[in-house]
Amino acid sequence: MAILPIITAPDPRLKVTSEPVDQVDDGLRKLMDDMLETMYDAPGIGLAAVQVGVPKRVIVMDLAKEDEPPAPRFFVNPEISQHSEELATYEEGCLSVPDMYEEVERPARAHVTYLDYDGNPQSEDIEGMLATCLQHEMDHLNGVLFIDHLSKLKRDMIIRKLLKLRRQKETA
Ligand code: NI
Repeated sequence: MAILPIITAPDPRLKVTSEPVDQVDDGLRKLMDDMLETMYDAPGIGLAAVQVGVPKRVIVMDLAKEDEPPAPRFFVNPEISQHSEELATYEEGCLSVPDMYEEVERPARAHVTYLDYDGNPQSEDIEGMLATCLQHEMDHLNGVLFIDHLSKLKRDMIIRKLLKLRRQKETA
């Protein structure tokens, strides 16, 4: 396995719409393994392939709490077929928007279909953290970041902070 560099905003590569996966093969599983290791190393709870520069519709996730054993999950070509009218608000962060956290409102529950690590079709009702996290990651597949759900004022402020942090890193 390998730790891959994570792309941070603002970067045009994060705005790309990811392509569906044709086949879940060993090459794709290697990518998912590397993404998982990269996510654990960051550390984070979810990562989309586009965040490591691979515009494919692939997501890895682990929502286990610190005192629980790891529970890695893999979502290939995820699709939401229905979602609740009811919304839920969570404070979100993103490995591509480092150190920034803001509340985002999303449908509280959804029905999702996807292919798993072995390429088997799965169908599942999701809610809570899983619903929020999966919708956040699925946004990445369409070139959308959580800051795109905020007001332009807030988003511009966050982008300015990110650019300032990047400059500080470059001159450090
Ligand atoms: Ni993210």
